[in-house]
Amino acid sequence: NDGDRVPALVIGSGYGGAVAALRLTQAGIDTHMVEMGKSWTTPGSDGKVFCPMLSPDGRSFWLRDRTVQPVSHFSGGSVDKNISRYVGVLDAEDFGGIKVYQGRGVGGGSLVNGGMAVTPKRNYFEEILPGVDSNEMYSTYFPRANAALGVNNIDPAWFESTEYYKFARTGRKTAERSGYTTTFVPNVYDFNYMKQEAAGQVTKSALVSEVIYGNNAGKKSLDKTYLAAASATGKLTISALHVVTSVAPAATGGGYQVVMNQINEQGNTVGTKTVTADKVFFAAGSIGTSKLLVSMKAQGQLANLPGAVGQEWGHNGNVMVGRANHMWDATGAKQSAIPVMGIDNWADTSAPVFAEIAPFPAGTELWVSLYLAIAKNPQRAQFQFNSATGKVGLNWQRSQNQPSIDMAKKLFDKINKKEGTIYRTDLFGPTQTWGDQLTYHPLGGCVLGKATDGYGRLPEYPGLYVMDGSLVPGNVGVNPFVTITALAERNIENIIANDMN
Ligand code: FDA
Repeated sequence: NDGDRVPALVIGSGYGGAVAALRLTQAGIDTHMVEMGKSWTTPGSDGKVFCPMLSPDGRSFWLRDRTVQPVSHFSGGSVDKNISRYVGVLDAEDFGGIKVYQGRGVGGGSLVNGGMAVTPKRNYFEEILPGVDSNEMYSTYFPRANAALGVNNIDPAWFESTEYYKFARTGRKTAERSGYTTTFVPNVYDFNYMKQEAAGQVTKSALVSEVIYGNNAGKKSLDKTYLAAASATGKLTISALHVVTSVAPAATGGGYQVVMNQINEQGNTVGTKTVTADKVFFAAGSIGTSKLLVSMKAQGQLANLPGAVGQEWGHNGNVMVGRANHMWDATGAKQSAIPVMGIDNWADTSAPVFAEIAPFPAGTELWVSLYLAIAKNPQRAQFQFNSATGKVGLNWQRSQNQPSIDMAKKLFDKINKKEGTIYRTDLFGPTQTWGDQLTYHPLGGCVLGKATDGYGRLPEYPGLYVMDGSLVPGNVGVNPFVTITALAERNIENIIANDMN
């Protein structure tokens, strides 16, 4: 409530925020979480909480009149649809040079993501975060994160037999014929539930294409894991549909004044509240946290933040591409929306790429192999406050994604040559081969050990902490949420032990 004072306030309810909330509440600390998206618990008129993937409505996108689907075109036409403006679950935040997809709602990115739960390669983790003890990470915090997230693996025998993973088997076969290594990828989608879906025993979710606009069943998103456990302590309060706009040292009594706008389901501000918190945990995601901190630094509320705030942002080298298979290499009319396999070419220094074999669950046979490639793209960008607009921009240029294209092209050119196949040139624009203008994996902007101390503290402002993907310097080589979760587990343990009395 307006005027309240709370011991701990967490901004954002994605991975970093959920870990902070669980460990703080378990330590007996009353914790208040503020989330700009809604709490996705009430069914719509169709009886479903989330809308169907193939006929999206307002629930799909965050405050837009028209969808901006990642695969935006097909056979020369746009596949986007008009929708009603609503606080939908998937945001495609447009920074000019790049569209950054993010989850909105209690659970953050876990509501919309593919659930791929990948522990990064140890040598690369050590390269990007040399200040973090990797022994500790790989013996304690990665296992802790995987357990709490509910990570599980697909039954390999079922994978080989089900029609729903024909697309992945075709992707594997074509990769291996060119000498590439493929690997199963763990997931937080409950594979036992998926098997029951296939057997017709439970309501289908992944097997009716549900994923990027939310899963109505099967997926262990954070609201079912970390946040449910935090709520069970009785010490967590969540304010959904509240957007934090400012954080500044409180004038009296210590702590920080946090200002937030309450919004309605059409995104209009219906009230403003100011809460004072002893400790504030920034967990608004790489974009959300960086925007807040850069703007507070520029406008003077947190003027002493270091110059490293807003730096080293990257998109995890994301680039998408589709290949047209031969008629005899079908990918299946029925596809699970949950990816379970990747092409691992990371060790090849001429084309370091980890490519997820992605589903294209259109409900009909298309013979398309779709990939989301994570390339070792060294390009980075900065957030900058624009005093004329009062907004924070990100100066990423589309041309900075050329290294990702070059690396992925090497890999997929080889497959195409071997197979005698070609790229689809109609999926990301009327005549565009590469999906190079978007990312699912924003990382960095407030890098661990540079903008913060070694545990996410902002030392210039005791009691302020960063917990989310903004700590990771731009690229982690695999899908990022396990890394974000494990780092948050490591950091919050140290913070609770040393800073909370
Ligand atoms: P996250 O973005 O999860 O949470 C931040 C929260 O803060 C959001 O809920 C946001 O609404 C809220 N917020 C922001 N600003 C705020 C403000 N001012 N006030 C209040 N609240 C605010 N990763 C992976 O490992 N495997 C995968 O398979 C996929 N697949 C995938 C698919 C799609 C479509 C997307 C969009 C993303 C993925 N990802 C993924 C990426 C993954 O979801 C992402 O890396 C994490 O969610 C990031 O976790 P964070 O805790 O950093 O922020």
